[in-house]
Amino acid sequence: MGDALIKTQGISKEFSGVRVLDNIDIEINRGEIFGIIGENVAGKSTLVKILSGIYTPTEGKVFFEGNEVDIKDPLHAKAIGISIIPQEFNLINELNVYENIFLGSEITRRGFLKNREMKKRTVSLLEELKKSIHPEEKIERLSVAQKQMVEIAKAIAFDSKLLIMDEPTTVLTLNEIEILFDLMRNLKESGVTIIYISHKLKEVREICDRVLVLRDGKMISTSRTDEADEEEMARRMVGRELSQVFPEKVSPSEEIVFEVEGLTSHGLLEDISFGLRKGEILGFAGLVGAGRTELAETIIGIRKKDSGKIIINGRPVEIKSPIDAVKNKIAYLSEDRQGSGVITSFDMIKNTTLISLPAYSKILINSKLEKEKTKKYVDKFNIRAASLKTRLEFFSGGNQQKVSLAKSLDPEPEIFIFDEPTRGIDVNAKREIYRFMNELVREGVSCILISSELEEIIGMCNRVIVMKEGRITGILEGDHINEEEIMLYATGLKGVA
Ligand SMILES: Nc1ncnc2c1ncn2[C@@H]1O[C@H](COP(=O)(O)OP(=O)(O)OP(=O)(O)O)[C@@H](O)[C@H]1O
Ligand SMILES: [Mg+2]
Repeated sequence: MGDALIKTQGISKEFSGVRVLDNIDIEINRGEIFGIIGENVAGKSTLVKILSGIYTPTEGKVFFEGNEVDIKDPLHAKAIGISIIPQEFNLINELNVYENIFLGSEITRRGFLKNREMKKRTVSLLEELKKSIHPEEKIERLSVAQKQMVEIAKAIAFDSKLLIMDEPTTVLTLNEIEILFDLMRNLKESGVTIIYISHKLKEVREICDRVLVLRDGKMISTSRTDEADEEEMARRMVGRELSQVFPEKVSPSEEIVFEVEGLTSHGLLEDISFGLRKGEILGFAGLVGAGRTELAETIIGIRKKDSGKIIINGRPVEIKSPIDAVKNKIAYLSEDRQGSGVITSFDMIKNTTLISLPAYSKILINSKLEKEKTKKYVDKFNIRAASLKTRLEFFSGGNQQKVSLAKSLDPEPEIFIFDEPTRGIDVNAKREIYRFMNELVREGVSCILISSELEEIIGMCNRVIVMKEGRITGILEGDHINEEEIMLYATGLKGVA
């Protein structure tokens, strides 16, 4: 292999004596798109954090452009031409878009910030990503997909030789993914090397030239993507054959337990009405901006409604805040696990029992009960962490998602709203979550499943509501739940526009 841009030799990493990466040798060429796949905690993020100066390896060497380098920190990495789009957003909420993009690398002249130029650059970067986000918009006002696009803009703002993407598409929809892939192909054309981490094996096959499989911190294989299909990749990741992904669907009862009537929030939601049956999984499909998350947030009282009713077991209820929602036995698993899902500076126990804290405290917080409960969830979801006391920021991305799930489950809900529950989760853990939803509906819990993964909507739901621009365009049942029909309603080619 003549034209390696980056090469590692015997890279290992330990955290407090625990080995999470073991003897990794990779060699990536100029202009190559190199995929890394593996289950949650396989060590993917740790490996790329080493390459981008966030972590130092315990053992091993890194060679860049033929020379051994000792990458000291992310700024050093950037200076030699390595930038990373991290798995967890690294944006400062209080600053605006262009300030974030140029943070630490501000354009200046004679010591003065050249704001106009930075704004102009920001607009053209976002144009390249086909996004019209105002350069002076505050980060906290952006949706997760927009935040992801800003992270991408930030990484491509400075010409780099190696661009690392740690699960950049988990929050993006098909259209946005296509835009990103076009950009990646253009970068590749111009000789940029890309490392691409994803749990979406179909995407990996589509965009990557070669793929590395990691399992428990070890290299399992490196192969060309045209030599291994998705099933083979999944097998290598898990280390054994995988059985059926989706469990058998359960038929719900006729009884309607939850109704939304004429829910309207000007500019966001227009006259939304539907009913949810006991033991049903009701899917919500649609493109980004269709208003599905906004609907969930309005139902649980994060957003104010302008008109409309919510009826539980035949009785109208007022839900003004997420606490009211919990009181009415509605749980919400947020799509933005960093924003409202979990608190990364708390440990797992604190996180899982956060919303039902009143139930644990007569006067003092009952820490023994808290701990027992948390242990139960650790087993149930196979959450892997050093200890119950480990702060969440040290968890792998997929494990943070599992904690966030445990947290919304703790008050024992009757109605459960899942918003993109399997985002960033590996194939095996996905199956666990599907099984678990199946168990819930068998016990009579009713579920709303908001998802951009059509496969998941089709595999799991009894009925599917399709939304477009804040309205319901179609309700599908039985054989009508298929990719084609969903897309027709989602794009407005079918149904009321
Ligand atoms: N700073 C840290 N301190 C302690 N342990 C850590 C730290 N960073 C990572 N780990 C541990 O290293 C292991 C590998 O984590 P890593 O984030 O690399 O997994 P991953 O393959 O990216 O998983 P995912 O698909 O869930 O993102 C995990 O067990 C994680 O808890
Ligand atoms: Mg990761």
